[in-house]
Amino acid sequence: MQKWYTTVLALGLAGQVFAQNPLVVKVNQPKAEIQPTMWGLFFEDINMGADGGLYAELIKNRSFEFESPMMGWKEQKNPKASVLVLNRQDQPENPRFIRVKTEGGKYGLTNEGFRGMGVKQGVGYDFSVLSRNVEGNLTLKLELIKPDGQVLGTASLPLNSTDWKKHSVRFTSNGTEPKAKLNVWFEGTGTADLDMISLFPQDTWKNRPGGLRADLVQLLADMKPGFLRFPGGCIVEGMDLSNRYQWKKTVGPLEGREVAINRWNKEFKHRLTPDYFQTFGLGFFEYFQLAEDIGAEPLPILNCGMACQYNTAEVVPVEELDPYVQDALDLIEFANGSTDTKWGKLRADMGHPAPFNLKLLGVGNEQWGPQYIDRYVVFEKAIKSKYPEVRLISSAGPNPDGEVFGFLNGKLRSLKADIIDEHYYRKPEWFLENATRYDDYDRNGPKIFAGEYASQSKDVASPENRNTWLCALSEAAFMTGLERNADVVHMASYAPLFAHADGWQWTPDLIWMNNLQSYGTPNYYVQKLYSTNKGTKVLPILSNNQLITGKDQLYASATWDEPTKEVILKLVNASSQPQTHTVNLEGVKKLENKGKRFTLKSSEPGAVNSFDQPKQVSPTEEELAVKGTKLNLTLAPQSFTVVRVKVVK
Ligand code: AHR
Repeated sequence: MQKWYTTVLALGLAGQVFAQNPLVVKVNQPKAEIQPTMWGLFFEDINMGADGGLYAELIKNRSFEFESPMMGWKEQKNPKASVLVLNRQDQPENPRFIRVKTEGGKYGLTNEGFRGMGVKQGVGYDFSVLSRNVEGNLTLKLELIKPDGQVLGTASLPLNSTDWKKHSVRFTSNGTEPKAKLNVWFEGTGTADLDMISLFPQDTWKNRPGGLRADLVQLLADMKPGFLRFPGGCIVEGMDLSNRYQWKKTVGPLEGREVAINRWNKEFKHRLTPDYFQTFGLGFFEYFQLAEDIGAEPLPILNCGMACQYNTAEVVPVEELDPYVQDALDLIEFANGSTDTKWGKLRADMGHPAPFNLKLLGVGNEQWGPQYIDRYVVFEKAIKSKYPEVRLISSAGPNPDGEVFGFLNGKLRSLKADIIDEHYYRKPEWFLENATRYDDYDRNGPKIFAGEYASQSKDVASPENRNTWLCALSEAAFMTGLERNADVVHMASYAPLFAHADGWQWTPDLIWMNNLQSYGTPNYYVQKLYSTNKGTKVLPILSNNQLITGKDQLYASATWDEPTKEVILKLVNASSQPQTHTVNLEGVKKLENKGKRFTLKSSEPGAVNSFDQPKQVSPTEEELAVKGTKLNLTLAPQSFTVVRVKVVK
């Protein structure tokens, strides 16, 4: 697999390859417009992407609603004290709470966090709990500790209400520790009920209380993504329909959001994660807000009455689809509706009276077969008649070819679907060979969303897959084909987005994290180079009057960027030899004499980034000397190069 094809260009000294023919960019012949949505993000709560990852809550099982109510908690026993799990009937979506009774002496509960808690020196931590006193008066003594018991921060919190009330206190950590725990000691004599025990760092994204991990959001914002797909992925579908993602259960007050088992917790026997649940603290409001923060179009994907076809494949009879369709209509109202509407009002009550301007909506995730088409048409009719401006994403199934794909592709085209979502988890060779995939697509048919793709170093969903440079390079080569065909391909996103080093189920992933650190993979830098060097129109780039799609292991695309008046080139040299090319920019009188060049390369196809070497494979930026309207470029072996040159009058 790691074979680099030998080049057939003229070999010069020391293996240097000099191309005979110049590459020609026809700057005066701009073609298709590149959609602002072209390069985006796919988010799913897989690999502890939300709970334990992006959602900065440090307490695992804060509401005691995991299958096993005390999962994540350890009792620090005392014969004179006890804890009971009880149920309240007035709150069916979050019924459980704990009752602690103590007659004095040292008694407490310890929360282990999500594989520990990442805490930082000098950062403030907000502790909160919903509680009511049943008898007597208890005071909580909080202790953030290292695994060896060393105390990093403390606080006292008297519980002073006989009705359910939120109590909170802030304290600072005096040390940095990736695997901290929280002791909650009960001082005094009495009985108290507790629920929603929570601990958040203050330094969240935009310092929002109860917010998202800032380092992770920053990595996303840095990509300037065109859209944010959410919440998946198979999580949309659920293992069965009762486990499907239901957006209405993810909005409103936190304590009213019903916890669900995360469908990835038992999916892979080799990566069991039995403590993986969804608290929906990162729910649909926080999602829309995140998309807005990072300048991405929101793209929700909704369940279409079908559970995951790799699991139960449960379906809702077509004549009983109404509640599912209503969920879709109501989501549009939640995002866009006036504050006089039921769901628009909830959005305003949650702090965002202005609409979120939802324009795209996915019907089902990776569904297949006639059952999908039967349900898709019901959604399409209902949504289009109420919201004709919303463009719908439809599923072409899990594979980019074969019978299932052929059936759906044919049906969706005959239905004149807006945008078809294609997925490809394939080996690097496939990506290299498929840089021409869209060259022959119908220019007048549905648009394409390359909604999930990633080059697999070993095999689909194999735990041995790695985010190698070879995989990233093959994606860069393939993406020249997406860009060249921007009249057909309107959106693309790598998948999955996040993985926690101690809690993942699926690899490869775009961004890896632990409790304190995060880094972008080589694949991340490929995505970022594309999305931050997008351009507004496709330009033809040719060699010998032919598209540059892999001959001599060279791949290229070019764009024009109207706001900056720059020509942007993307060149992938997938061979093991350097290549020198002259590039003629045709139809241009003058270029600024200095351009910019970004190079992403490694001499080692298996190179990866890591917590210790997070930027081992990352782009370098340098000035590029420009003479007249020609560029001379030497492309390093196994490299991805982006060039920006400005046209002057
Ligand atoms: O990205 C991981 C999974 O791959 C997604 O949940 C699913 O849509 C696909 O099969």
